[in-house]
Amino acid sequence: MDWNFLTTLQFDSLDLDARDQEILDALAQKLQDNYPYAAPEYAGQMIKPPHHLAQAAHWMTSFINPNNHALDGGRATSALELECIQALGTMIGYNQPLGHLTSGGTVANLEALWVARQNQPTTKVLASAQSHYTHQRMSEVLGMEFGAIGADEHGRMDLGELEEALKILAAAGRTATIVATMGTTGMGAVDPLHDILELAGVYGARVHADAAYGGYFKLCALNEASDEAAFAALGRADSVVIDPHKHGLQPYGCGAVLFKNPKEGKFYKHDSPYTYFTSDQLHLGEITLECSRPGAAAAALWATLQKFPLDKGGEFAQRLEHSLAAARGLTQFLEDEGFWVMDPALDICVFSKQGLKASQVSAENRDFFEEQARAGVHLALFKLAPSQCPWPIEWDQDELVVVRSVLMKPEHNDPKLWEKIAGLA
Ligand SMILES: Cc1ncc(COP(=O)(O)O)c(C=O)c1O
Repeated sequence: MDWNFLTTLQFDSLDLDARDQEILDALAQKLQDNYPYAAPEYAGQMIKPPHHLAQAAHWMTSFINPNNHALDGGRATSALELECIQALGTMIGYNQPLGHLTSGGTVANLEALWVARQNQPTTKVLASAQSHYTHQRMSEVLGMEFGAIGADEHGRMDLGELEEALKILAAAGRTATIVATMGTTGMGAVDPLHDILELAGVYGARVHADAAYGGYFKLCALNEASDEAAFAALGRADSVVIDPHKHGLQPYGCGAVLFKNPKEGKFYKHDSPYTYFTSDQLHLGEITLECSRPGAAAAALWATLQKFPLDKGGEFAQRLEHSLAAARGLTQFLEDEGFWVMDPALDICVFSKQGLKASQVSAENRDFFEEQARAGVHLALFKLAPSQCPWPIEWDQDELVVVRSVLMKPEHNDPKLWEKIAGLA
C-alpha cells in the first residue's frame, strides 16, 4: 500500500490558494515515507487506522477549534466529553465515573499515579516488570518510589513476589499503589486483577489498572478464565486508564483516565484567574492536569461511540473478536510451521525461530524481521528475559530477541495473511 491517494484529496470547501496547494502537494510527497499502517501487511506495532467517521468528526470540529479546558472555550465538546467518559465508565463497571480524555496513555497514567500520591503521599508504586516503562518514569516525575515485580512465563505479574513486597511495606508502616496492566505492551498479557484486588484488600493498597491497550477487550470473550476474571474485576480498581487512540478507532491524541470515586476530583481543585467565568457548572479544566485539550478529540470519540456503542456482542466487540481470533489462528499456524510460539491472551503474538543458543536465535529472529520487511510484511521485535521464556534454550546472553506481531485490524483474521507473516507466501 502506498500513500499516493493523499495527493488526490480534495479540499474544495477551503479557501486554498495555489501556494497552499503546492505546499500540500509537497507534504503529501513527504508523507509517503511511512510504513503502510492501514494495510493488513502492517502487523508490527500498536498502530490501528482511525475510523473515517472519527477522522471526519475531528476535522469538522477543528473548524470551530474548541478547547475543552473550560466551558468558556468548548461548551458543546465538553458535554460530548462527559458523555464519552460515561460510556467508558459504564463499560468498565463504574457507577459514577469521574474522568476525562487526555493526550494519551502516558499522561492518563501520570494523572492516576498523581491522584494515588495525593491520597497517600508515601505510597510506593508496584508494577510488573512487563508494565509499560511510563510507570517507572512517571513515578520519578512524581517523586514516588517505584518497585518492579517479576512476571511469570505468561507475562503476568507474580503474585508471590507482589505479596512479599506488600509485607515489607506493611512492616515499614507504608502502603502501595499496585499497577495492574490489562494487556501488556510486549505480549498482551493480562495481570490477574481479581487476585491483585484481594491482596490489595488485605494490605490496604490502592489499585490502578493500566488498560491503555487492552481495556476494550472487556467487551469480548477471552481465551483464559483468569483473564476473563481479571476484566470482570475492572470496575473494582480505584482508577483505570484506557486509550481510545489504540483500539478505539481514534486518531492519536486520545487517551482517558477514570476514577471510581468521584470525590477524588477534589485533588485537582485549583483556581484559575483567567477562566471558569461563564458557568457554575463543572469545567473540565477543574479536573485535569493538562490545560488546553482538543474538543475535536471528544467530538471524534463521541461520533464513533454513536456508530459503535460499547456493547458486548455488538459490532465493535465483534471487530475486536476478529483480532483475538487472528492471534489464535496465527499462533496455531506458526506452531504448525515449526516456530516456537506463546499462547496469546489478547491480539499480540510473540514467536521465535527454533534453535540452540539465545545469541544465535536472536540473530535469526532479527534477520527474519528484516527479510519480512523487505518483502512488505511489517512485524516488530521484543526482548524476553530468561524468566519469561517458555522454550528450551541455552542462555549465552541475558535476553532473547523474539518476533512480535500486533493484530489490531479485523483484516488480520485471514489465513492468507498468516502465510505471509510466516514467510511462506
Ligand atoms: C499498557 C500501556 N500503557 C501505557 C502506554 C502509553 O500510552 P501512550 O503511548 O498513549 O502515551 C502504552 C503504549 O503503548 C501501553 O501499551
